[in-house]
This record gives sequence, structure tokens and C-alpha cells, in this order.
Amino acid sequence: MCEKNVLVAVDGQTVELKVRSGTIGPDVVDIGSLYKQTKMFTYDPGFTSTASCESKITYIDGDEGVLLHRGYPIEQLAEHADFLEVCYLLLYGELPTKAQKSDFGDRLTRHTMVHEQMSRFFTGYRRDAHPMAVMVGTVGALSAFYHDSTDITDPHQRMIASLRMVAKMPTIAAMAYKYHVGQPFIYPQNDLDYASNFLRMCFAVPCEEYVVNPVLARAMDRILILHADHEQNASTSTVRLAGSSGANPFACIAAGIACLWGPAHGGANEAALNMLAEIGTVDRIPEYVARAKDKNDPFRLMGFGHRVYKNYDPRAKIMQKTMYEVLDAAGHSDDPLMKVALELEKIALSDKYFIEKKLYPNVDFYSGITLRALGFPATMFTVLFALARTVGWIAQWNEMIQDPDQRIGRPRQLYTGEAKREHVPISQR
Ligand code: SDX
Repeated sequence: MCEKNVLVAVDGQTVELKVRSGTIGPDVVDIGSLYKQTKMFTYDPGFTSTASCESKITYIDGDEGVLLHRGYPIEQLAEHADFLEVCYLLLYGELPTKAQKSDFGDRLTRHTMVHEQMSRFFTGYRRDAHPMAVMVGTVGALSAFYHDSTDITDPHQRMIASLRMVAKMPTIAAMAYKYHVGQPFIYPQNDLDYASNFLRMCFAVPCEEYVVNPVLARAMDRILILHADHEQNASTSTVRLAGSSGANPFACIAAGIACLWGPAHGGANEAALNMLAEIGTVDRIPEYVARAKDKNDPFRLMGFGHRVYKNYDPRAKIMQKTMYEVLDAAGHSDDPLMKVALELEKIALSDKYFIEKKLYPNVDFYSGITLRALGFPATMFTVLFALARTVGWIAQWNEMIQDPDQRIGRPRQLYTGEAKREHVPISQR
């Protein structure tokens, strides 16, 4: 990695800061010594110009609409790989050989069941609790059941905890769904692939055989690939910050789930479908586009815009293709919300406001229509996002723990409150 320097003039003092270059993408100015040299902080509340870490996992070029996982374009992974291979790639840095994939699949399979006592854990929730609330609580509780894999200084325990998280998330997500709809839990079936096992745990019932539709299983697998990891997004940064204190991996993933739930982040897939349902028909689109452009109206087009992508989100294109496949296979190819979504995209992408602000559909815009056609209620959409993103969070967490420069994350602030003042007794206030 070549090193250059920049000079920063501060109050007549010239400060020299190192510039570091990555493999591809923007250089970074190392400001680690800035406060020591200048007694000043940098200020970047939304981290729009801040690299929080060095990473080798995922690269995004927002201007070109490029997404690489360990160097492989998302389009090629979605087309030619399956989610198990992408999990292996994110965790270990290379696509697996046949033998490595088989061994990895076997190791994951041995961890798909959850402690039987966890099923009683669910009975504490109301049946109408949002499944994401159930996920935050239940995943956080995993450290109460698996305390033998919470020592983050032990590489073996880190590996077991990583496998447990990736293996158990489908089981827990399916349990959250079954509890939500009042049906009995379905145990994992170890001879099924990851996506098929998940669909069966969600939609099988004890009173009849459940046959997985291979088209829907392949679509589910591809949706998991599209959501697996995405650089230092809000929830991944949350997992890293929680992990930097030495918190156990289950607690860190629960923190990531909590952050992902926000409608500006992973919660946008549920919000986007609800928005399309509220618009209802194509003739009402102009009213909502006008609201999205109105500075005085908090309404935004959910599933549109992105902090990094100022071009089409490459995942949205693949999700749209998957949407057609699923609607066709599920017999909903005339879904009225699809017509609203396609027309809304067309109108927005030709509108000056969206063009100037470089607002394009993101991964959440078409996923809701697709997931609904797979049989999921909108309340489960962000749960599925969390299920897929768990491998990315775990890969990023492992990378952070093994980073020799790793230390507890502790940002500073620009303080604009009261200067020091003396206490006044209440009798004198
Ligand atoms: C995900 O970071 C990741 O990688 C996230 C993710 C991942 O895989 O982890 O990709 C997943 O979270 C995708 C994003 C899902 N969220 C939504 O679809 C919610 C709707 N989108 C917006 O809330 C917004 O676009 C964000 C939150 C996604 C991005 O917000 P930014 O980067 O802070 O941008 P901004 O809010 O400053 O917007 C810039 C301008 C603003 O106008 P001005 O103040 O400059 O006049 O664009 C406008 C915004 O008002 N704008 C929108 C808009 N998004 C931004 N206007 C209308 N509709 C929108 N959707």
C-alpha cells in the first residue's frame, strides 16, 4: 500500500497527515494524530466522508453502481453461486472448493437447531408482537444459552459462535414467523439446502407433507445473497462498535438487528411495500411524487435513494428480475403493486428532482413485492434482511476482532452546550 502525505494548515500551524491508498477506491487521510497535533477534532455527523476501518470484505463504488464481495461482482455471485458459497466467501475470503463447501455445509447443519428451552422463550411475547422485536430479544438471549462460545479472544469459540449465528438465524426467524401466525414451530430438516430449509420451517405444517418449490427456493437463495453484506452500513457499523468493547457476538448481532430495523435502513423494505399499498393505483403516483419532493412534507419514497449509490443499486436490478420470476412461479404476475412500482420508478427516474439528487431504486424497492409473493407478511421483510445480513455482520465482526489496530470505538463531539456554571439552590431559582 503506497503512502503519501497531506499538509493541513491549522491556526498558522502546518500539520502533516499520512494518506493511505487501498487496492481500489478512494484514498484515506489518516487523522489519528490530528487531535494530538492540533487539539482539534474532525466533524462528520453522518460519516459521509469518514472511513471507520480497513476492510477486505466488500467494496462499493456508488458512482458506478458496483458491489464486490472479496472482489467478485454481485451480479456473478447472484447468477452462479449459492448463499452457502457466498457465506464461505465472506467468512474465509475465497470461494470454496467442492470439499470445502460440503464440509462447511455439514458444520453449519450441526448447529441449525436451537436450545429446546428457547421455544418457551417465545411464549413471553404477545402473538401480535412485531417479529423484529422478537428477533432483537431472542438473538440477544442466545448468549444466555451458548456461553461456551462467548470468549472472543479464543479463535475456536469465535468460529463456533460464527457458525451458530449463521446456522441458527433461519431457525429463529422461522420461529418468530410461526409464533406470529399462531402455528407450531417446524424443526430444521438437515437434508435440505439453506434456503429450502428456511422456506420449509416457515410454511410447512405438521398435518401434511411440504414440498419446496425449487423456483421459489432458488429465488429465496438469491435474495439472501443480495442482502449478505454491504460495507460499513449503519447496522454493520453498529455490530463493529458493539464488538469493539469486547461484547459477545450474540449481543453484537442483536445490536445490528436493532439498528437494521429503522425505516431509513433495513426497515425500508417493509415501509416500501406499505407505501406502494397506500398509493394503491398508478393514477395516485403523481400525488406521492409531489409529496416526496416537498421540503415541508416528511414523506420520502421508501426504497429510493442511498448514501453511497448515486447510480442504480446493482442489487435492485437483480431483485427486479427475481420479482418477475417469483410472481410468475407464484401465479401473481398481474400483481397490481408491481404495476405501481414499475410506473413509480419510471416517473421518478425521469423527474428533475430525483435526477439532480441522484435518487435511484435501492435493494428495498422491489424486495417487498417479491417477498410478499413468496408468502411472507410485510412484518417479516426486515427479519429476512437480518437473516441474510447475519453472515456479513459476523464476517465484519471477525475481521475487526483480528485487526491488530483494533481498539474500543469512542468518537468525540463538538460541544455547544452551557459552559461551566455554579449550582443554584431551588429556593433561588
Ligand atoms: C439500506 O448503507 C447501506 O449500505 C444500506 C443498505 C445495506 O445494504 O445495508 O444498502 C440497505 O438501508 C438501503 C436504503 C433503504 N432506505 C430507504 O429506502 C429509505 C428512503 N431513503 C432515504 O431515507 C435516504 O435516501 C437514505 C436514508 C437511504 C440515504 O440518506 P442520506 O444519504 O442521508 O441522504 P439524504 O437524506 O441527505 O438525502 C439527500 C437529499 C435530501 O434532499 P436535500 O435535503 O438535499 O434537499 O435527497 C433527498 C433528501 O430529502 N432524498 C429523498 C429520498 N432520499 C433522499 N427524497 C425523497 N425520497 C427519498 N427516498
